Amino acid sequence: MVVLKTDKPILRALRGEALEVPPIWLMRQAGRYLPEYRALRAKAKSFLEMCLTPDLAEEITLQPIRRFGFDAAILFADILLVPSALGQKLWFQEGEGPRLEPLTVSAVGNLSGAAVRERLAPVFETIRRLRKSLPEQTTLIGFAGAPWTVATYMIAGAGSDDSGAARLFALREPRAFGELMDVLVDATVDYLVAQVDAGAEALQLFESWAATIPAESVADFSIRPLTRIVEGVRARANVPIIVFPRGAGTNYLRYDAVGADGLSLDAHVSLDAMAGSFRTRCLQGNLDPFRLIAGGDALDDGVRHIRRATIGRPFVFNLGHGVRPETPVEHVERLVKLARETAA
Ligand code: CP3
Repeated sequence: MVVLKTDKPILRALRGEALEVPPIWLMRQAGRYLPEYRALRAKAKSFLEMCLTPDLAEEITLQPIRRFGFDAAILFADILLVPSALGQKLWFQEGEGPRLEPLTVSAVGNLSGAAVRERLAPVFETIRRLRKSLPEQTTLIGFAGAPWTVATYMIAGAGSDDSGAARLFALREPRAFGELMDVLVDATVDYLVAQVDAGAEALQLFESWAATIPAESVADFSIRPLTRIVEGVRARANVPIIVFPRGAGTNYLRYDAVGADGLSLDAHVSLDAMAGSFRTRCLQGNLDPFRLIAGGDALDDGVRHIRRATIGRPFVFNLGHGVRPETPVEHVERLVKLARETAA
């Protein structure tokens, strides 16, 4: 029998197939809740070094696959590699998260996408290696941040939820903000196409700060740039794309307009009430990450509820946001077992 690439469960779901057992992966499945990640982290010079050293990034990407046999591996990297490749200074403050030199209006013109492929070359090397080292049925997911989310960090210069700076920048300096969005859209398309060229089989766009966009700006700040990215990537590469507008709330349905293959739902979206309303082919999500920390009935009930609510529709099991560092590894084992039970 000829096994097609599309036989991989996640790719089948993203192309519109309702599988009896939904494929599963977790956002932040590689990270600090894993002792083997913490061991590598303690030895590495910095988080950035881990992202940009193919040996390390490959190993970290593989860690959760070895342990849990997820249906997909997500490339170990970070959404802030793009601003760094555009020329903005980036560093990770120990114990605090990312820091960027705050972007001023006059600095927008200095950003250049010309060197993105060259500066992020180690990421593409990691992808090439992973395609050789991953198990045959495991899909490799590449990713990037959505322009608004990345701009939020670029403008605030911090890892906090300080979106106020970006909102004011967009309102006071619409021309510079538009220029910044254009630079980010183009660089993100190039970066994602290069990931696919290196071997990424699906892509996810993280709009992690969708919640901070005022309703009247959602189209301009988020939906339109994401649509441009999806169209730009599709013109040059043929892989399914998932969009994750975390915290979009009542604007969630509007993200159908992006035209992605998959829409990832946070834990605030009710599958019972909403699953039938989306036009995007495949849904993904949306277990509350705190149920995974709590374990016990909270976990079992949450998983079974999602399984029941998604019977008969294309679906990828995931969390509503990333795995948190305090999550017990045994709870992740339990989750995978339950999510794969045949009778939900
Ligand atoms: O397993 C995976 O999901 C793949 C790797 C991945 C990381 N970051 C590794 C990481 C992915 C897909 C991301 C995306 C990312 N990065 C997002 C979007 C998803 C989300 O969480 O909403 C955002 C907003 C960032 C920016 C970022 N990177 C922040 C705010 C932080 C600090 C907060 C934190 O969790 O520490 C990071 C650091 C980071 N990125 C870590 C990891 C494993 C922790 C680094 C460490 O070991 O200290």
